[in-house]
Amino acid sequence: MTKVAVIYYSATGHGSSMARRVAAAAEAAGAEVRVRPVAETQTPESFAHNPAWTANYQATKDLPAATGDDIVWADAVIFGSPTRFGSVASQLRAFLDSLGGLWSQGQLADKVYAGFTSTNTPHGGQETTLLTLYVTLMHWGGIIVAPGYTDPLKFVDGNPYGASLLANHDNIDEFDETTYNALDHLARRVVHVADRLGS
Ligand SMILES: Cc1cc2nc3c(=O)[nH]c(=O)nc-3n(C[C@H](O)[C@H](O)[C@H](O)COP(=O)(O)O)c2cc1C
Repeated sequence: MTKVAVIYYSATGHGSSMARRVAAAAEAAGAEVRVRPVAETQTPESFAHNPAWTANYQATKDLPAATGDDIVWADAVIFGSPTRFGSVASQLRAFLDSLGGLWSQGQLADKVYAGFTSTNTPHGGQETTLLTLYVTLMHWGGIIVAPGYTDPLKFVDGNPYGASLLANHDNIDEFDETTYNALDHLARRVVHVADRLGS
């Protein structure tokens, strides 16, 4: 059974919902799945003024946090992050930057990787976030499985680099059908390619 780790950071909860959706789709495609939030690096006091951030923190803080072992365990990893100034959030960046030891041992290589992101504005840096994430994964010797336009539904969401959401605080728990389709397709494709690689 192909093993998939969904490793994500989310401040205000959209990414947590995206991660759950991706995980469910990967399971439905036959994979064994771990969902792992990346640990928060900000103090709860620093975002106490933000109810969505506080609620997501409280809902996820007791889940097992992502570690390098989750990547070593997995045949495929799907990363998720909000877009911050056109790139991944510093919380995910800090996690990635903690993996030098595993990288030097070649333990991050030869795995399937893909990503999802969200922004507050249309486009808003979604593609640059995924591309900058993928630069790191190339350094690892990862096999990046972009969705491309491999299904008619990708012509609807229009992001060939991954899956992405236009986040507003009204859609933390429920997305539009186009976004669900893109998240499901990303997960299915990752599992399908990892299966074909015989991992
Ligand atoms: C410091 C910072 C930088 C951001 N930069 C962008 C950006 O470049 N483009 C954009 O559309 N939204 C930007 N946003 C909005 C986030 O992308 C949005 O809050 C996020 O996608 C919500 O995801 P989450 O609920 O999983 O945290 C930024 C937010 C913060 C706090």
